[in-house]
Amino acid sequence: MERQPIIEMRDLTRAFRGRVAVDHLNLTIYRGEIFGLVGPDGAGKTTTIRLLAGIMRPTEGTAIVAGHDVARDPEAIKTRIGYMAQQFSLYGDLTVLENLNFFADIYEVRGPEREARIERLLRFARLTEFTGRRAAHLSGGMQKKLALACALIHQPEIIFLDEPTTGVDPVSRREFWEILTELHLEGVTIFVSTPYMDEAERCSRVGLIYEGRIIVCDVPGKVRGMVQGDLLELRPDDFRRARQLMETLEGVLEVQTYGDLLHVFVDDADRRQETVAKALREAGIGFTGLRQTRPRMEEAFISLIRRQE
Ligand SMILES: Nc1ncnc2c1ncn2[C@@H]1O[C@H](COP(=O)(O)OP(=O)(O)OP(=O)(O)O)[C@@H](O)[C@H]1O
Ligand SMILES: [Mg+2]
Repeated sequence: MERQPIIEMRDLTRAFRGRVAVDHLNLTIYRGEIFGLVGPDGAGKTTTIRLLAGIMRPTEGTAIVAGHDVARDPEAIKTRIGYMAQQFSLYGDLTVLENLNFFADIYEVRGPEREARIERLLRFARLTEFTGRRAAHLSGGMQKKLALACALIHQPEIIFLDEPTTGVDPVSRREFWEILTELHLEGVTIFVSTPYMDEAERCSRVGLIYEGRIIVCDVPGKVRGMVQGDLLELRPDDFRRARQLMETLEGVLEVQTYGDLLHVFVDDADRRQETVAKALREAGIGFTGLRQTRPRMEEAFISLIRRQE
């Protein structure tokens, strides 16, 4: 099947008083993708999404979204896209049903279609039993699902979600992603920003943004493959000393910490596993669980950002 571009960024740039927040992005997103924009705090995720949603003007470059130039004609995309902001965007005093009706009014969803859609979205968001509850009194996870339902009231082709699951418990997070998967199967193009690497793994493609620039953009499997060397994992007794020691060893490319684990990237795991064990023993540092493991997205991203620096 021919891949059909639905978002095309052309040197998309935004500066705030001379400081560049989004720096010449040239990404193409295809119809039906779940595209993940991943990056640390302040990397430029929200600004990128605002530019693409036509809420903010670029200072340079532009993007074509659903056939319209967002810099020249931001109004034209309004009915084609949905946008879920990073912050709470509901009316806390209104009930679940009132919020949906409010958004239906804004987007002029009328007639018999309106009730059917609201009912469907309530089911979709698993909120049917909570229609009378005020938005402010919903759990965090339920608020996010309601915000998503509101952003879908006009049946947009593209939905922009800015960190939709940040601060939400793991069970609700999973449920939210199940809903996204259903949307994806319906053919909606999803552009989602997230700081969570397990979510990045669920995207069809991910772009890593850092200091306003895209460092890599590829399918998750390819991104994982971008780390240099092999990965050894171990749990040392003396974390700091072990780390310092690893950094001096021959064949060690990079050391990362991961909870109480040390991740040591080496040129060749088979050869260096013994070197690492020997060095630790000689230094009198106890350790357990030394083994080779497969790098995940998380290690890849940290590594790629370090290389960038
Ligand atoms: N309205 C604004 N005025 C001035 N600077 C801004 C404005 N909005 C964003 N910035 C700056 O632009 C950079 C990118 O911010 P942005 O909010 O896009 O990052 P982010 O990746 O969404 O971060 P977070 O993970 O915190 O949500 C930051 O340095 C931020 O301080
Ligand atoms: Mg943000």
